[in-house]
Amino acid sequence: MKKIITKSYEEMSAVAAAVIAEQIWKKPDSVLGLATGSTPIGMYDRLSTMVKTGELSFSAARAFNLDEYYPIKRDNPQSYYAFMNEQLFSNVDFVRERTHIPNGEASDPVLECAEYEILLNKYGPIDVQVLGCGLNGHIGFNEPEDSLDTLTHVTGLTQNTISANARFFDDISEVPDKALTMGMGAIFKARHILLLISGENKAPVVKKLLEGRVSSLCPVTLLQLHSNVTLIATEDTLAD
Ligand code: GLP
Repeated sequence: MKKIITKSYEEMSAVAAAVIAEQIWKKPDSVLGLATGSTPIGMYDRLSTMVKTGELSFSAARAFNLDEYYPIKRDNPQSYYAFMNEQLFSNVDFVRERTHIPNGEASDPVLECAEYEILLNKYGPIDVQVLGCGLNGHIGFNEPEDSLDTLTHVTGLTQNTISANARFFDDISEVPDKALTMGMGAIFKARHILLLISGENKAPVVKKLLEGRVSSLCPVTLLQLHSNVTLIATEDTLAD
């Protein structure tokens, strides 16, 4: 795992945006794996600016988002569909049909996951997969469990994740208790994984990640087994 430690969130975001931009310049029709959460917002902001100034174009690229709450309406401001529109898609020039997010409105979530997996197989492997991680080490919504799913699947959210994500909702009771998420398979097939971690509250997770052990009870640690991961972490995540 290549490690880049940055002094600030802004620097982490700039380095991450540069990795994505390099990828698109090198291969304009790249397939990107995208993440939500507060961590990648600064990176999306920089990428949006680069598109506005004409330095960068996503017009030939394709994107797959990791996950979505279930059930949730797309027009709910807390849906990942709304998040991606606000933070990136409405500011840049992706062709909408080439941006994929699991559908939190699907009447049959199991079928929705199966169809998402078919799309991932058709257009994958992902060239660069952006990942954040939860306070409990989840990636996407692959929560800590004795065993992890390889394929896109419906999952229950842990109380830890529901509490952590409640800050975005008016009330914790509004946080959906399920989600649709890409499994470990498509994540691991990605050619390059860009793992972004920021903030002192993630220090315990970073400690586990760098310990040299892997456990499905802290899914992010499994990334140590992937041959091309770049961790970009702010220095406060190294606090003991
Ligand atoms: C959510 C998403 C994850 C994300 C995590 C961390 O639970 N499903 O993909 O990595 O939040 O969020 P934050 O970056 O806000 O800490």
